[in-house]
Amino acid sequence: MAPFKFDQIGDWSELKLEIVEKYGAAYTKAFTNQHGIKKFYIDAFSGAGLHVSKRTGKQVEGSPARALKVTPRFDHFYFIDLDKGKTEHLNTLCRNRTDVDIHTGDASRYLSQSVLPKIDYRKFNRALCLLDPYGPPFRLGTNSAGWTIRGG
Ligand SMILES: C[S@@+](CC[C@H](N)C(=O)[O-])C[C@H]1O[C@@H](n2cnc3c(N)ncnc32)[C@H](O)[C@@H]1O
Repeated sequence: MAPFKFDQIGDWSELKLEIVEKYGAAYTKAFTNQHGIKKFYIDAFSGAGLHVSKRTGKQVEGSPARALKVTPRFDHFYFIDLDKGKTEHLNTLCRNRTDVDIHTGDASRYLSQSVLPKIDYRKFNRALCLLDPYGPPFRLGTNSAGWTIRGG
């Protein structure tokens, strides 16, 4: 198996990461006065939590690392990636945290079978879900609650 390497990212990805961080903060802030709401962050194609900038050669925090720092805070995090090297690195970033679940495997299966069924709107659960694959196609099936998400 090839040794794990951080992804190299271009300017557009760096901009995307800034937007994700700002959007995350705006999202949790929007619930500030709504007591009892539990806020989840789901990163279905999470990567390793760290990249290398093509432009500068420096390390750049990935979307999961940024979500973990957002204030007001999310209550719980789900990170999913197919690449074991990346989820192992994420595990080192999240050591000792009890509010993080990290899964190695296919996002569409794990999301539809294990994560989304737990986010129950009637129990005041709300989620920001980032779907950020390298490219199309991406498809989620329909679950027992009847929702479908498609992308790509
Ligand atoms: C664009 S990168 C994600 C970057 C990350 N969201 C960030 O901004 O820091 C896409 C990731 O999707 C992962 N991936 C590809 N196919 C996948 C699948 N079927 N399920 C879960 N992860 C997958 C890749 O290993 C890669 O880390």
